[in-house]
Amino acid sequence: MRSILITGCNRGLGLGLLKHLMKVPQPPQHIFATCRDVNKARELTALAQESKNVHIIEIDLVHIDKYKEIVQTVSEKVGEAGLNVLFNNAGISPKFARLGFLKPDQLTSTYFVNVVVPIVLTKAFLPLLKAASKNFDEKSKMSINRSAVINMSSLLGSITENSQGGQYAYRCSKAALNAATKSMSIDLKEDGILVACLHPGWVRTDMGGSNAPMDVDTSVSNILRTLGSLTEEHTGCFIQHDGSSLPW
Ligand SMILES: NC(=O)c1ccc[n+]([C@@H]2O[C@H](COP(=O)([O-])OP(=O)(O)OC[C@H]3O[C@@H](n4cnc5c(N)ncnc54)[C@H](OP(=O)(O)O)[C@@H]3O)[C@@H](O)[C@H]2O)c1
Repeated sequence: MRSILITGCNRGLGLGLLKHLMKVPQPPQHIFATCRDVNKARELTALAQESKNVHIIEIDLVHIDKYKEIVQTVSEKVGEAGLNVLFNNAGISPKFARLGFLKPDQLTSTYFVNVVVPIVLTKAFLPLLKAASKNFDEKSKMSINRSAVINMSSLLGSITENSQGGQYAYRCSKAALNAATKSMSIDLKEDGILVACLHPGWVRTDMGGSNAPMDVDTSVSNILRTLGSLTEEHTGCFIQHDGSSLPW
């Protein structure tokens, strides 16, 4: 792929994805990495300084009114080639997850970051994603090299796999993101844009915590291998890092 935008790149899986992408044999020409506060994103800033491919975009994604500006920034860099991949990675998970401790604000703020943001950001980047797809022959297969939206979901968004309850805000938000992924995959099929939702595994990040069994490097290298293997068969699918499919 020539270009990718990943949200939430100052730490965790977003930063891991960026680091791995910089090291692949043919790195993307443009890697757009969003973070909320450049001053706090030391590692990301250092990486951007050592690579011309990495462009930092500072944005708190709840500020939807700023999307036009960031689309313009990306557009100026990618030109007619468009944007190949939008990776909606940024997400939040509130601490108190049991029903008795639940606050309505947690439900709405989590829904906003985990659902409203990826949907509205995808809408904002549609012209660039379509432009990337149109550069391929109409009959070309779907792939991340052509054009794709990847939504970072979670196994906790699976209704079938929910055996422990709790986690209202997070579970509901990721289930909703999965529903949005399915709709996007149908709506964007004619444009040749692949859309999938992906569970990264339970990973040792600030969100995943120190008890998680998987490290960021393992999750991210699996994710990148899986992304490379996606075709139209996978559009609208819920898969995990290693490519195996998950129940809704
Ligand atoms: N780790 C796991 O085990 C696990 C499992 C399943 C799914 N996931 C999903 O994987 C994704 C990444 O998770 P992670 O483990 O890397 O979490 P993390 O370490 O907590 O990182 C979350 C990232 O999202 C960014 N973010 C949060 N709110 C934002 C906002 N309003 N605007 C812009 N950026 C915002 C954070 O930026 P700041 O640093 O500025 O807060 C940070 O870069 C999430 O969608 C998560 O739900 C993770």
